Amino acid sequence: MKEELIIVLDFGGQYNQLIARRVRECNVYCEVHPYNISLENIKEMNPKGIIFTGGPNSVYAEESPRCSKEIFELGIPILGICYGSQLISYILRGEVSAAPVSEYGKTEVEIDTSSDLFGNVSTKTVCWMSHTDYISKVPEGFRITAHTPVCPVAAMENPEKQLYATQFHPEVMHTQEGMKMLSNFVYQVCKCQGTWKMASFVESTIKELRERIGSGKVLCALSGGVDSSVAAVLLSKAVGKQLTCVFVDHGLLRKNEGDEVEAVFGPEGPYELNFIRVNAQERYYKKLAGVTEPEAKRKIIGEEFIRVFEEEAKKIGAVDYLVQGTIYPDVIESGLGKSAVIKSHHNVGGLPECVDFKEIVEPLRLLFKDEVRNAGRELGIPEYLVSRQPFPGPGLGIRIIGEVTAEKVKMVQEADYIYREEIAKAGIEGLGQYFAALTNMRSVGVMGDERTYDYAIALRAVNTSDFMTAEASEIPFEVLNRVMTRVINEVKGVNRVMYDLTSKPPGTIEFE
Ligand code: XMP
Repeated sequence: MKEELIIVLDFGGQYNQLIARRVRECNVYCEVHPYNISLENIKEMNPKGIIFTGGPNSVYAEESPRCSKEIFELGIPILGICYGSQLISYILRGEVSAAPVSEYGKTEVEIDTSSDLFGNVSTKTVCWMSHTDYISKVPEGFRITAHTPVCPVAAMENPEKQLYATQFHPEVMHTQEGMKMLSNFVYQVCKCQGTWKMASFVESTIKELRERIGSGKVLCALSGGVDSSVAAVLLSKAVGKQLTCVFVDHGLLRKNEGDEVEAVFGPEGPYELNFIRVNAQERYYKKLAGVTEPEAKRKIIGEEFIRVFEEEAKKIGAVDYLVQGTIYPDVIESGLGKSAVIKSHHNVGGLPECVDFKEIVEPLRLLFKDEVRNAGRELGIPEYLVSRQPFPGPGLGIRIIGEVTAEKVKMVQEADYIYREEIAKAGIEGLGQYFAALTNMRSVGVMGDERTYDYAIALRAVNTSDFMTAEASEIPFEVLNRVMTRVINEVKGVNRVMYDLTSKPPGTIEFE
């Protein structure tokens, strides 16, 4: 599976993962490594190519991340991007200077299409620039292959040594022909074959899991989210009934979700595995009674999950393997030596301590999220599970402001269902995440001839590419209006609907 590899050396740029994803979109397996990984290590990995990322530093600053000159003597093609391109110039004795003004944004670049990197690219093409320093003189043996009116070296190369560099970012969407350039690097320069395909990943992973697990017993906490679903199906295909999946219905799932998960993974579903559904709704509602503070709710829900799971694990007894749905972005180490921020998966984070197991299996640890979805499709998992939006471990517990009660859960479930149904009917695509939340506000209304004093539902929808920042989506007014009418007519206890316009920051995506 790993016979063809390109590595990305991370110099602190914000697009390091994106570069790796783009290379994988070219069907070549790609990993991100810290910039100071040893040459020995690189030789062992035997990559077909190396990409240097951008970074916020200036090559002249003392603390700037650098690599050794010997990396250029390995005979492995290198592509430097932004800071990476300046670093190539700096180390090989070209010149880098500080520009009086930064060049930022979409910029038309003139391209020399005789370069292997720019085959089939237009002679004038829009690229994404984001730099202050620039290469003012190329190192010996290099030639300039692209420029802009203010950037004399927008790209350079030394084809004999297989060294290429772009000041702009081919990996970002705003660089119109960026994918062509990366594909040229992968295929024309690194001479890759393109063997990284989801079908072969799925097939080889199932085989590896089968060999590794042998006749061992495997336990998986199934949430119904994309990651745990795909992990469970991979294991089911590998070891069948040796796998037990425990699905805790905490009563804070979306409408019908518990039954949907059971329909796929339960005895009536297509997979061979042991499925245990724990209906723990009452337990959770009891624990949550009277609790209003959001962090306190999160804590209770997380701890209760561990207790429920622990009880089930005790019934099952010791197992050999515990499945974790870790994915590649959780694994990547930052190039600047800081440990990566790992999102605390509230629902599975504390499991290892409460289960008697020998080893952890993480069948998705090489995959990006979109690749996990593709693996799911490859495995034949229903599309509604595969394309599911992120759903927080604490579920609707953090989409209800104030105290959580069974009645409030029902209200938010119904409203959310209507909202999702209307969005689907309207055929709106490209929304990042959307859901209904129940505010803790009651206000006066009039329905028929009656006065009402009921709750307000807040609708939320955001566009986001990384979930770190987000903006409210522009949902057509008539769709919002339809949702409002239906929610007020169909959801008992609600007499007002609002749309949340807050971006992140300063807001968060969830409404808790
Ligand atoms: P916020 O609200 O922090 O959410 O802007 C960012 C993204 O993370 C999801 N989220 C969670 N996911 N467990 C999860 O697995 C959690 O406890 C949790 N809290 C928030 C949220 O849905 C959004 O996609």
